[in-house]
Amino acid sequence: MQIPLSSPDIGPREIELVNQVLRTRYLSIGPMIERFEKLFARFVGRKHAIAVSSGTAGLHLCMRAIGLQPGDRVLTSSFSFIASANCILYEGGIPIFVDIDPQTLNMDVAATREKLLELQRAGTPARALLVVQIFGQLCDMDPLLKLAAEFELEVIEDACEAIGAEYKGQQAGTFGHAGVFAFYPNKQMTTGEGGMIITDDDTWNELFRSLRNQGRDKAGTWLNHVDLGYNYRMDELSAALGVAQMERLPELLEKRAQVARWYATRLQEIEGVEAPQPAPYTTRMSWFVYVVRLAPEYDREQIIKALAAKGVPARPYFKPIHLQPYYVQRFGYRPGMLPITEAISQRTLALPFFGKMTKDQIDYVCDALAEVLHQYA
Ligand SMILES: Cc1ncc(COP(=O)(O)O)c(C=O)c1O
Repeated sequence: MQIPLSSPDIGPREIELVNQVLRTRYLSIGPMIERFEKLFARFVGRKHAIAVSSGTAGLHLCMRAIGLQPGDRVLTSSFSFIASANCILYEGGIPIFVDIDPQTLNMDVAATREKLLELQRAGTPARALLVVQIFGQLCDMDPLLKLAAEFELEVIEDACEAIGAEYKGQQAGTFGHAGVFAFYPNKQMTTGEGGMIITDDDTWNELFRSLRNQGRDKAGTWLNHVDLGYNYRMDELSAALGVAQMERLPELLEKRAQVARWYATRLQEIEGVEAPQPAPYTTRMSWFVYVVRLAPEYDREQIIKALAAKGVPARPYFKPIHLQPYYVQRFGYRPGMLPITEAISQRTLALPFFGKMTKDQIDYVCDALAEVLHQYA
């Protein structure tokens, strides 16, 4: 059996709506994007939802919105996809990485406070928190928001991996001044490429709409550009996919939750591997990936190779951002800077995970994993 690492869940409704767009003249800036934005804003319970060409584009626009200036410090976590730190660099800001909580793999509150005090003492206080909600689980938001208030920081949420996730009953993306989601095909819902920014701020809403559309004025006047903008628009075909996936979102999230439950049950019997354990304040996990931790004595590369030979792809996830070659070269970062991030990232293994995964496929993956772990114990 060969099992994919991930796979989108596309049904007849998606095909119908994309076809509908193809039969119109509007392949960009048409009615579908408005429909998608309305559905999305209603789902998250925020006033504005602004569709963009990717999650990265959405995060970049948030850095513009907070008015990030060259040299400004933004606290974030290194255990993430590179885009969450790169968006700070786009505006000349400096990402300051804080270590993570070993359970949620998100910014640790005590480490964040320590870093904020350190920056204050050095005379370079932080401007903002870019809170990454990794793997569909939220940070401990209450104390983090308290810190943000105490240190007068803007809060932007990178909720690219967390659509539908909840912290004490509150939805991902709704804690900060703005939140950003992403719809790459491995995500809980997809538009091919695409992203969404949500905010309650009317001024930011106008700014995002202008900046995604080459800095046009509020009325979108023909070739009248009042700001330095970008082409970060989402096209109508992607928006049509988004509408269909939004309509099916409860079903898409539940299928993934079922796959996660199957994994959790099977993994209990397998020695040498830890299943993810959501924190008590996580009232809803939005399963994005299924990342287990191998016991430290295993050689992860060897396990990955042996699993691949059995048709089971598995990936190390994440290599921390501060140890990515570009960051090492530019900032001189070295291993040892973030002990928890580094220790955990050496043991993590993403198993095949997608909503359409069958119980048989999970049994196959778990049998293969048990065999391989036994073989190399
Ligand atoms: C945590 C995180 N931030 C940002 C992004 C960027 O999203 P995109 O790939 O749509 O640009 C992603 C998704 O890939 C992500 O997982």
